[in-house]
Amino acid sequence: MSVHSSRTAEALALISEDMRAVDAVVSERLSSDVVVVSQVSRYIISAGGKRLRPALLLLMCGALEYRGTQRYNLAAVVEFIHTATLLHDDVVDGSTLRRGRATANEAFGNPASVLVGDFLYSRAFQMMVDAGDMRIMQTLAEATNVIAEGEVLQLMNMHDASLSEEGYLRVIRSKTAKLFEASARLAALLAKAPAETERHCAQYGQALGTAFQVIDDVLDYDGDAAEMGKNLGDDLREGKATLPLIIAMQRGTDDERLLIRRAIETGGDAQIDEVMLIVRRTGALEATRAAAASEAQRALDSLQYLPDNTYSEALRLLASQLLLRRA
Ligand code: IPE
Ligand code: IPE
Ligand code: MG
Ligand code: MG
Repeated sequence: MSVHSSRTAEALALISEDMRAVDAVVSERLSSDVVVVSQVSRYIISAGGKRLRPALLLLMCGALEYRGTQRYNLAAVVEFIHTATLLHDDVVDGSTLRRGRATANEAFGNPASVLVGDFLYSRAFQMMVDAGDMRIMQTLAEATNVIAEGEVLQLMNMHDASLSEEGYLRVIRSKTAKLFEASARLAALLAKAPAETERHCAQYGQALGTAFQVIDDVLDYDGDAAEMGKNLGDDLREGKATLPLIIAMQRGTDDERLLIRRAIETGGDAQIDEVMLIVRRTGALEATRAAAASEAQRALDSLQYLPDNTYSEALRLLASQLLLRRA
């Protein structure tokens, strides 16, 4: 079963050969004399994943007509950074299922996951130096730092039922959108595009990444675990106030608000069914999807300023199909 919708798969077909070249770089750069490093990193990478961040970088390179091979290297870099964040995130979140199989922490333990995450981050940094471009290094250094900040910020917000929409947005822009933004910006930097174009590329990536995480937060309530390849309901279990809950609290009665507040404060799944009912009754999932739609629209708006070709058409498809994603 494909992890992408058929129309998204159509858009990605444009870069299927490029993606094979990226996979070759990934495989080559995972090698290490320390067996556990290759074992754990290959375990999570071979499980697949949507490879969205490299796809974004490659499609954007296509849109800007950059054909150099450095794009394969940087596409592998963003996937390594993403994979490192997942290894660490699953430890922090105590998650047991990722990409349809046991998480690395479940299979190999927390210490191996954390340390191999560090290996992937630092390997990514070795690889980005190869690009020999200060702006590229700045972009990736900043993105990696902001992602870490976002994850810590989210940790600080755990069990905080008063988290505002702005507070939520700040977390997801940092932990998720920043790497999408960097992936799109890297294409502009490789293509030596004018500053204005670079800004629109970055804007597209940021908006796409934000919409992507908002939908992910809907799917945690409304998705299918088999399709997602991860457990549902984890956000509430962890006491994470995501947009569906924030909106349900705004719209609910005093009693409903109190119940959700308690559920966030205590975590666990004792109240998950009741929370689910309130989330549905208040239309919070539809409202959250609408918030994702307006971010996706912002992504589409940025594309107007980019060249009009098959690649920018694919980027358009990606942004509009995102709202329908189930995995
Ligand atoms: C998972 O990202 C983390 C989030 C930002 C929600 P993806 O959904 O892109 O994960 P893979 O790489 O496809 O497994
Ligand atoms: C994903 O965050 C990790 C990062 C974006 C760094 P989440 O914890 O929200 O996503 P899943 O549900 O584990 O994929
Ligand atoms: Mg997680
Ligand atoms: Mg997390």
